[in-house]
This record gives sequence, structure tokens and C-alpha cells, in this order.
Amino acid sequence: MPPNNKIRPFLAAASLLFLLPALPVLADCGQAGVERGANAFAAECSVCHAASKGAAPGMGPNLAGVIGRAAGSQPGFAYSQAMKARAQPWQQDSLQAFIAQPQAQVPGTYMPYAGLADATDRQAIACFLAQPH
Ligand code: HEC
Repeated sequence: MPPNNKIRPFLAAASLLFLLPALPVLADCGQAGVERGANAFAAECSVCHAASKGAAPGMGPNLAGVIGRAAGSQPGFAYSQAMKARAQPWQQDSLQAFIAQPQAQVPGTYMPYAGLADATDRQAIACFLAQPH
């Protein structure tokens, strides 16, 4: 085996290490991620949304248990036709996409929110909302 072939895997691994800092920083769903999400939720969402079971809705529906719940399905909340028609259960990734660009994801939604630019905060909020509330 020429020395080249022995070195190649090391070079590949080394170049991966160089790539790492270029990747977006992802919040993990551990304690730190959930705490970051709670703070970001308080800053960005809580003016319109509650996130504790049984709490009254604000301008937006209560988001306790929203992950896994069909879009537009919280009883007693007057959703837009667009949100009711979406109907798919929210997952962490679709929720992140929605809060990045609400009008692009659900055209005609009543949610008057321009979008959250910080991807780490979006992921952290999805982590926070995936916790039991
Ligand atoms: C200014 C008020 C307002 C803000 C701020 C806001 N929302 Fe909303 N949100 C709404 C309204 C109103 C709806 C109902 C939309 C519809 O019926 O089309 C909604 C709907 C939603 C839904 C769909 C819920 C369901 O039951 O299907 C999710 C998920 C959601 N918002 C998440 C968020 C998150 C996360 C944030 C913060 C990043 C946020 N929203 C910020 C008002 C707001």
C-alpha cells in the first residue's frame, strides 16, 4: 500500500475538523437547549401564546402540547382557514420552519409575526415546546 492511502483517511478526518466551525451552531435539546428555548419563548412568543396546560389562550392558541398536535386543532380557538386546512401534526422541524417564516409556511395565517431569524433560538424553542408542560 503506498503511504498515500494510509494518510488519506487522516486527511479526510482533519479536513472535517476544519469544516466544523463553519456549520451552524445547533442548540441541543438538553437542559441548556430547553432553558435557552424557555427564554427565547418568553421574549418572542409569550406576548401572544401561553405554554402551560390549561392556561387561557392569548392572541394565539395555547402551545402546551403543540408538538404532535394537529395544526389548527386547539378547541375553542378561532384559527384562520389556512391553519385549519394545514391540519398536519406539528413536529419540531415544521414548527421551526413556521416560526422562521410564518406567512411563507402557512399563507394566510393570522399569526402577525414576521419570523425569528436566529436558527439556534428557533431550535431551542422547538426543544422547549417538546417538553411536557
Ligand atoms: C403577535 C402575536 C403572536 C406572536 C408574537 C407569535 N404568535 Fe404564534 N400564533 C399567533 C396567532 C394569532 C396564531 C393563530 C394563527 C392562525 O390561526 O392562522 C398563532 C399560531 C401559532 C402556531 C400554530 C398553533 C396550532 O395550534 O396549530 C404555532 C406553532 C405558533 N403560533 C408558534 C409561535 C411561536 C413559537 C412564536 C414565537 C417565536 C409565536 N408563535 C409568536 C400569534 C402570535
